[in-house]
Amino acid sequence: MIVLGIETSCDETAAAIVTDGRDIRANKVLSQLAEHAPYGGVVPEIAARSHLDHIDRLVREAMDEARVGFDALDGIAVTGGPGLIGGVIVGVLTAKTLAQVAGKPLCNVNHLEAHALTCRLSDDVAFPYLLLLATGGHTQLVAVEGVGRYRVMGTTIDDAIGEAFDKTAKLLGLPYPGGPAVERAAKAGDPARHDLPRPMLGKPGCDFSFSGLKTAVAITVERLGHAPDVQEAADIAASFQAAVTDAVARRTRNAIEVFSALHPRARRLVVAGGVAANMALRTSLETLAASQGFTLTAPPLALCSDNAAMVAWAGVERLRLGLTDPLDFRARPRWPLGEVIGA
Ligand code: KG4
Ligand code: ZN
Repeated sequence: MIVLGIETSCDETAAAIVTDGRDIRANKVLSQLAEHAPYGGVVPEIAARSHLDHIDRLVREAMDEARVGFDALDGIAVTGGPGLIGGVIVGVLTAKTLAQVAGKPLCNVNHLEAHALTCRLSDDVAFPYLLLLATGGHTQLVAVEGVGRYRVMGTTIDDAIGEAFDKTAKLLGLPYPGGPAVERAAKAGDPARHDLPRPMLGKPGCDFSFSGLKTAVAITVERLGHAPDVQEAADIAASFQAAVTDAVARRTRNAIEVFSALHPRARRLVVAGGVAANMALRTSLETLAASQGFTLTAPPLALCSDNAAMVAWAGVERLRLGLTDPLDFRARPRWPLGEVIGA
């Protein structure tokens, strides 16, 4: 089986070709970073126009690189949400048009599901597993039990984890995108320099909160009385990163308990989403997993941030089960991943 994937839900225009043998034949990603950087964040209107300018060429390049024609495809998978709706519509229209002209099955893929299943493309992970989904828009702990079977055990009650990194970067005067900039700065900083709060400390359950931590960073910066210099920014970045990773590890620890009650024999923790690129987070999750008798799987960086290989793979998974979508499905700005359980 060979599937074309299309991703346009945020600020990456992407097209990829993936087989059911877990072979990534092409994975083209065009980042719009430079276009949004002057604004310090993604501008939806600019994103949608840029997707429109580039998606045809990226699909062509992916097909050429994989040396396949449209005839050879078994299906076309596209992110149908959640995301910035103008961009999602560009991808969905492209996929619908190609599916109709080439007479191929179409898969409407939830972007979060694509992140959630990536570890099965990269590492052939078996169901069920406990997933920490950490992106710019979402922070969730999910029991992934099968394709389309997701139990959300915890979610953020305010900011997403990636958003917290991005806002911290802004407060520190670090460049956009914030996550990688904070991680880079933190390398030269002292994580014990500022005692920042661990959100939800001691509270039961697996939900997250990051807005209090962001406020604490803002207050710390304010107290300096001037824009932070390089060392001051590094120390705050390191202290922030330590607080985030500590808080996330504690919530994930609670989730392991809930997950283990559901699936006593499963022992796999997976981290996915753009923030999974963060090495401090990976290390702290690795330590946690080991202490609980779990193994941590983190897909390679290129598959953690937004890409179309994960969308194509979700298409493979869905097509294998005979799941396809009609040409008239609608792009969705919001699309929760699955059933929410009280944890
Ligand atoms: O999954 P993703 O590429 O897009 C969404 O679906 O949101 O995640 C993007 C988020 C951004 O907030 C970005 O700052 C964050 O992931 N991020 C990081 C790192 N690399 C990307 N956060 C912390 N450390 C990193 N190294
Ligand atoms: Zn994403």
